[in-house]
Amino acid sequence: MMRATFTFTLSTVLLFFSALGEGSSASSRILPSVTEFFEVLQDNLTEVTWEHAVNSQAALKEALNSSDIMMIEADIVLGYLEGNSTFQLPVMAHPPSNTSDLSFEDFLNQVIQNKAHGIKLDFKSLEAFNASCTILQSRRENMTFPVWLNADILDGPVNSSLIGEPVDATKFLQLAVTHLPNATLSLGWKTRYGTDYNITDGSYSEANVEEMIKTISNVSLPITYPMRAGLVANSLSAIEKLLNESANGTTLTVWSSAGDSVDNETLSDVIKKIGVSRVYVDVPDELWGRLDLKSSPSSGIKIGAVAFGTLLAAFLFAKFF
Ligand SMILES: *[C@@H]1O[C@H](CO)[C@@H](O)[C@H](O)[C@H]1NC(C)=O
Ligand SMILES: *[C@@H]1O[C@H](CO)[C@@H](O)[C@H](O)[C@H]1NC(C)=O
Ligand SMILES: *[C@@H]1O[C@H](CO)[C@@H](O)[C@H](O)[C@H]1NC(C)=O
Ligand SMILES: *[C@@H]1O[C@H](CO)[C@@H](O)[C@H](O)[C@H]1NC(C)=O
Ligand SMILES: *[C@@H]1O[C@H](CO)[C@@H](O)[C@H](O)[C@H]1NC(C)=O
Ligand SMILES: *[C@@H]1O[C@H](CO)[C@@H](O)[C@H](O)[C@H]1NC(C)=O
Ligand SMILES: *[C@@H]1O[C@H](CO)[C@@H](O)[C@H](O)[C@H]1NC(C)=O
Ligand SMILES: *[C@@H]1O[C@H](CO)[C@@H](O)[C@H](O)[C@H]1NC(C)=O
Ligand SMILES: *[C@@H]1O[C@H](CO)[C@@H](O)[C@H](O)[C@H]1NC(C)=O
Ligand SMILES: *[C@@H]1O[C@H](CO)[C@@H](O)[C@H](O)[C@H]1NC(C)=O
Ligand SMILES: *[C@@H]1O[C@H](CO)[C@@H](O)[C@H](O)[C@H]1NC(C)=O
Ligand SMILES: *[C@@H]1O[C@H](CO)[C@@H](O)[C@H](O)[C@H]1NC(C)=O
Repeated sequence: MMRATFTFTLSTVLLFFSALGEGSSASSRILPSVTEFFEVLQDNLTEVTWEHAVNSQAALKEALNSSDIMMIEADIVLGYLEGNSTFQLPVMAHPPSNTSDLSFEDFLNQVIQNKAHGIKLDFKSLEAFNASCTILQSRRENMTFPVWLNADILDGPVNSSLIGEPVDATKFLQLAVTHLPNATLSLGWKTRYGTDYNITDGSYSEANVEEMIKTISNVSLPITYPMRAGLVANSLSAIEKLLNESANGTTLTVWSSAGDSVDNETLSDVIKKIGVSRVYVDVPDELWGRLDLKSSPSSGIKIGAVAFGTLLAAFLFAKFF
């Protein structure tokens, strides 16, 4: 999962960081934001490169070794290390799997050693997060890279309550704020969509958005909302409402599962309307290759025309009344 065009710029920033060496402020700041850490980013978050589901020793070695990858996404369950079904601990795995050759603690230690990547930690249950909190807290001073704590904390489309409960929102937020202040929270809705359920159509509703806004009203940590690509394409007005009622700096992270039905034209359009400065895109290569996120000159002209029309109307209004 690499975006070839990025190679040069990221190597440049890595060289920059290694030239700064230990103790420099840019590389030793605790829990920086993605844009603070990857200084190469200008105003386009879709340039951030991702490796998804980094849930094994081999996948982690490969991701850490790749200068083409900025953010590492990985899943945490309360489970077992392979070959030991008696001792339960947080491990890197995606349900229904509950075993791994990589514990969460080992994962975090390797990322800390490496120092060059940010992480998005997708906690699959409150128990998994709770059991990971002391590990996170004890290493806080060593996390000189972006750390996102992700969970699906609300029911969502399409009738997701049919497939299980979200992570308890209040408890998740309490634990996060207590153990890792200044991490970024990635707060999402459960989704029932895609090949697992043979669902190809749906959207985030106003009610979904209103529930989220209410839920995060007392949270002061930075937030990104993970939203599923196929649903995002149908949800522009709900997303605009969500971002308008969230703190400045709040972002969206568009994700997708392999095989999801996604209208690439509409999705490209929605991302550009929200603005590439507010949207991370963590989707399979197949979908990434079908998106067009270049700013279209025509939209600039349209905005210009609207602005001119408004001015003209104001002028006429003033003149005739
Ligand atoms: C990746 O590994 C190769 C050898 O295994 C090494 O030469 C290279 O420097 C590594 N790259 C990074 C970015 O760590
Ligand atoms: C499982 O892991 C625990 C904790 O590390 C250890 O005490 C126990 O001996 C291990 N059991 C087996 C069968 O390896
Ligand atoms: C782990 O997964 C296995 C296989 O699906 C299942 O039999 C077992 O009950 C699971 N254990 C826990 C604690 O969830
Ligand atoms: C949370 O973790 C603590 C230990 O860190 C444990 O004592 C407690 O029982 C756990 N609570 C839940 C709900 O898992
Ligand atoms: C973690 O941070 C402490 C204190 O800043 C430092 O002494 C230690 O070497 C760091 N460990 C790693 C693995 O970076
Ligand atoms: C969702 O649930 C409502 C109420 O139970 C039902 O009317 C609706 O048809 C369901 N929609 C889907 C897509 O399953
Ligand atoms: C969080 O970050 C702010 C500013 O970035 C800083 O003032 C504050 O001390 C940090 N809090 C913790 C607990 O590190
Ligand atoms: C999926 O849904 C379509 C139409 O809704 C139906 O034609 C098809 O048979 C379904 N496939 C499966 C595997 O359920
Ligand atoms: C936010 O905090 C206020 C005051 O502490 C409290 O009354 C309210 O219930 C909280 N709201 C949420 C959604 O937690
Ligand atoms: C967000 O930023 C805009 C422009 O920079 C500013 O006018 C507005 O007051 C800010 N809103 C909040 C809630 O901080
Ligand atoms: C959407 O995908 C189709 C092929 O699946 C492609 O022809 C089209 O150019 C894509 N649209 C954009 C905006 O990239
Ligand atoms: C943003 O970055 C993407 C990915 O590199 C690129 O395709 C797109 O043209 C950029 N858009 C703008 C407006 O800079």
